Amino acid sequence: MLEVVQLEKDYGDLRVLNGVNFRVREGELVSIIGPSGSGKSSMLRCCNLLEQPTAGQIIFDGLDITREDVNINAVRQNMGMVFQQFNLYPHLSVLKNVTLALRYVKKMSTHEANELAMRALEQVGLKHKADARPNQLSGGQQQRVGIARAVALKPQIILFDEPTSALDPELVNSVLAVMRELRGLNMTMLVVTHEMGFARDASDRVLFMDGGVVAADGKPEAIFSATDNERLRSFLSRFHTENTPL
Ligand SMILES: Nc1ncnc2c1ncn2[C@@H]1O[C@H](COP(=O)(O)OP(=O)(O)OP(=O)(O)O)[C@@H](O)[C@H]1O
Ligand SMILES: [Mg+2]
Repeated sequence: MLEVVQLEKDYGDLRVLNGVNFRVREGELVSIIGPSGSGKSSMLRCCNLLEQPTAGQIIFDGLDITREDVNINAVRQNMGMVFQQFNLYPHLSVLKNVTLALRYVKKMSTHEANELAMRALEQVGLKHKADARPNQLSGGQQQRVGIARAVALKPQIILFDEPTSALDPELVNSVLAVMRELRGLNMTMLVVTHEMGFARDASDRVLFMDGGVVAADGKPEAIFSATDNERLRSFLSRFHTENTPL
């Protein structure tokens, strides 16, 4: 589904990605963990060319999307993105936030867009909030609207960049629960997260990014019991994963 090959990214003189390699298969949930500044967000943003890679390839559904002749806007319609800050339009209702791209990017009729949006809102448990404004919702609910907005487009993959980091602790689980449900529906997901309990329990695979490369890539059982990678062990020791609620 998605294959990242020898990805490099420089910001001026600063090299932040130094040959990143990994792949995400259809239906997989892959979590990305790693210290602050290790390049997780840069890598994710390169995947849909929100950042221009300096070198390397991003192969999405068989197509190298870094090629100049690729219509990136068409590609992005198949790649949902959920950000730490929810990026909802405050002056629009929840329903309009979800239908916006359906109507103006996918050119659907209002009726068709509303129907898809209501289904997506139902999926995240917020059908009853369709007419509310974002500021009338909790942070967790706003993020679930962000997820509904991505889901409604029926993308082939959704990229999440720390979707729960801006939330109060008691709201985190409602968002993670929605993501677990999506996984149950076989949605392909690439998730940067600091929620080690989620990475351990909900992922098919976990990537550990460190110093601009994928320093470990494996099943959660292997990553969370890794004893041979000193940097990974040191990173994980900062989290009390055994105490994280499931
Ligand atoms: N637009 C930019 N211009 C210059 N430097 C940048 C830019 N974006 C990120 N960086 C730098 O690139 C490095 C990697 O940043 P990135 O945001 O990808 O890390 P991260 O792993 O997502 O960190 P965090 O866990 O704190 O979100 C950092 O040193 C950061 O300062
Ligand atoms: Mg980041």
